[in-house]
Amino acid sequence: MKAIARNSKAALMPADEKGVTLSWLWIGTWSMGGEGFGPHDLKLSLQTLEAAYETGIRHFDTAGFYAQGRSEELLKKAFGGNRRSKVFISSKGGLWREGRRVWHDARPEALKKALYQALERLGADYIDLFQLHWPDPKVPLDESIGALQQLRDQGLIRFWGAGNLTAEQVKRFIAPEGTMPHQVHFNPIHRDGLAILKAGRDCDRCINCIISPFEQGLLTSSRLLEKELGKKDVRNRNPYFKSAFAKKLASELFSRCSQQGVSPAAAVLAWIIEHQEVDIVIPGPRRPEHLEPIRTIARAREMESLARPVKDAIHAVHTENL
Ligand SMILES: NC(=O)c1ccc[n+]([C@@H]2O[C@H](COP(=O)([O-])OP(=O)(O)OC[C@H]3O[C@@H](n4cnc5c(N)ncnc54)[C@H](OP(=O)(O)O)[C@@H]3O)[C@@H](O)[C@H]2O)c1
Repeated sequence: MKAIARNSKAALMPADEKGVTLSWLWIGTWSMGGEGFGPHDLKLSLQTLEAAYETGIRHFDTAGFYAQGRSEELLKKAFGGNRRSKVFISSKGGLWREGRRVWHDARPEALKKALYQALERLGADYIDLFQLHWPDPKVPLDESIGALQQLRDQGLIRFWGAGNLTAEQVKRFIAPEGTMPHQVHFNPIHRDGLAILKAGRDCDRCINCIISPFEQGLLTSSRLLEKELGKKDVRNRNPYFKSAFAKKLASELFSRCSQQGVSPAAAVLAWIIEHQEVDIVIPGPRRPEHLEPIRTIARAREMESLARPVKDAIHAVHTENL
């Protein structure tokens, strides 16, 4: 069986013969799907994905839940055909929506249905990583994960993972194969996620992947502090968009970033990645220029890894002489 491994910190291009080494950076496609995040331009979304690919990014995250499948279809438009094997696509099942109604169904048959829908929309015969979007309160976790393992054994997915487990669930749940990618909500506003990240790291069971790093734009876009959201905007459901604390933190961040000449997006990414519990971060850019702060952080990480052999050599000699 192929192994799935933690990121090699600076690498943007993973994948080798033996298995998959995950990059520290994936691109999320929820807000690029064309529903619930304000005005949408398909051309811009495709240009953003193309610019990400040109930057060397190969990991893209989606879900059947996002824009009712249109985020998955977007990835087919960008990376279908010959390019399919050059990218690592992760999708999810178990969370459903019709109009305004949202519900969990992570029974084995529902996960199988979600996977087949995803394969159809992606125009692919496999998915690299398929995840339980949220645990279903009515279905034992083992049952949902067991279903993903079966789909893996059938060759329809290469790896399985999960999202939104509690710290207790992370501690209790024993993944038979060891490490599993786990999507966790964590950012300077939503710091509760740290306990879950620590739980995953302490038992060495999870590859910790950070979702909504910019709190859906609240930490990057000052206009969102003042502007009324449209009626269909998914962020109406996000309590932080109505929270005085969250807005105060965001405006403080904007003013400090402007004094220091850094972009809030780069500052937030740097803050997140600095946490040793974090393995992967999944921001949701919507325009090509949104990739600039990502490139800034990538360059900084590259410098760090270039300097590492020197640091290691100095450390080794100093330790020897102690
Ligand atoms: N497993 C789960 O349950 C789960 C849940 C949520 C998210 N996710 C994953 O995480 C990904 C990212 O989360 P998200 O889309 O919710 O939120 P996010 O990345 O925190 O925020 C996305 C929003 O931030 C703004 N933005 C993005 N890049 C920017 C940049 N460089 N500079 C300035 N503004 C920028 C854009 O807003 P404006 O265009 O409005 O300015 C964009 O719509 C998703 O696509 C998905 O893959 C998973």
